[in-house]
Amino acid sequence: MPILDPNTVECISRSADQTRRFGMRLGSLLKPGDLVGLSGDLGAGKTTLISGVAKGWGSPDPVTSPTFVLVNEYYRSDNSILFHMDAYRIGSIWEAEELDFERMLQKGPVLIEWAEQIEAILPEERLWISMKYISEDIRSFTLKPAGKRYTALTAEFRKLTFRV
Ligand SMILES: Nc1ncnc2c1ncn2[C@@H]1O[C@H](COP(=O)(O)OP(=O)(O)OP(=O)(O)O)[C@@H](O)[C@H]1O
Ligand SMILES: [Mg+2]
Repeated sequence: MPILDPNTVECISRSADQTRRFGMRLGSLLKPGDLVGLSGDLGAGKTTLISGVAKGWGSPDPVTSPTFVLVNEYYRSDNSILFHMDAYRIGSIWEAEELDFERMLQKGPVLIEWAEQIEAILPEERLWISMKYISEDIRSFTLKPAGKRYTALTAEFRKLTFRV
């Protein structure tokens, strides 16, 4: 059995709706400058979780996989933007380097599916979410913070979710 870092939070979801609700809690805590990388196989639930994140963060915009553009943008009434990226489609590190993370992070949180594909260019401080397919309706996911801000964010998420 793996020994979990005390800052790590592990959740089990039994439905897509439950994953969305977990996402809503996380989304309610996100601020401009926050970077969240998601890893996990096809169908693990990354986009489903992000649809909850966008709702909880406060955007009414529908969440879809970024297919024709590299980055989807979801808006909120205060003019901040939540950025949703899919690194699966990014062919190379030099293409990834064209992405202006600094500019995006000033305007809002940034969420990246398949973040492991561009790990080399990501800031060291970030929240990492690994999602796993367990069975048709069951997924597990783990929040691993790197850096002070993300340790605090993960602790808040733990409080909202487990009340401890
Ligand atoms: N507990 C669950 N949590 C999340 N999704 C679930 C769950 N149970 C079933 N599902 C279904 O699994 C699918 C997850 O797809 P989703 O697009 O979110 O995955 P993804 O990780 O973004 O995949 P991709 O790598 O293709 O982008 C959806 O069809 C969803 O309804
Ligand atoms: Mg997806």
